[in-house]
Amino acid sequence: EKIGVLCSGRGTNLQSIIAAVESGQIPAPIGVVLTDKPDVMALERAEKAGIPNFCVNRKECSDKQEFEEKLVEKLREHGVTLVVLAGFMRILSPYFVRAFKGRILNIHPALLPSFPGAHAHRDVLEYGVKVSGVTVHFVDEGMDSGPIILQAAVPVEDDDTEDTLAARVLVEEHKIYPRAIELYLKNKLKVEGRMVRILK
Ligand code: GRF
Repeated sequence: EKIGVLCSGRGTNLQSIIAAVESGQIPAPIGVVLTDKPDVMALERAEKAGIPNFCVNRKECSDKQEFEEKLVEKLREHGVTLVVLAGFMRILSPYFVRAFKGRILNIHPALLPSFPGAHAHRDVLEYGVKVSGVTVHFVDEGMDSGPIILQAAVPVEDDDTEDTLAARVLVEEHKIYPRAIELYLKNKLKVEGRMVRILK
């Protein structure tokens, strides 16, 4: 197995996955890191870790299909068998999802199915919920809608801002994503319809 990580920005989840590979928690290497935008920290993090990394610049692609074909080409070139979306801010089309069917994970900074989409923390605060958290799930052809693998909850404080909530959730993200990837690679996840059972 080889992991391909797709990022759009900071790459703090990428960093926690790199650490988990280096510690042996995750039993497979990261073969390549791809971003949809140039000059983002995720590329620097990959470079520092000696991981092949490329920007497949969405702005230089004539359409979504060309963009995704380039992503798939790069992933295949590097022998990737598990695609990990980590702070990747693009919706992938059925073409991409089918190319890696059942082999794409995503992390979302809310307790799905609540608060899907690109502004989870803002929506959480606007709604006034008292508990939020993070979800790691398989990617299907919907948005933030695939079978859920792991979740973790955090309290929402009355004086929270998007930044203070995001920081609290991020701590949990950095624990839960390596764990989910480890379980997947150790064949401990059994998908039964919408339900993902974790084998002991
Ligand atoms: C994180 O909140 C993650 O859940 C979301 O993007 C944010 C940035 O992640 N998908 P990262 O620091 O780039 O890993």
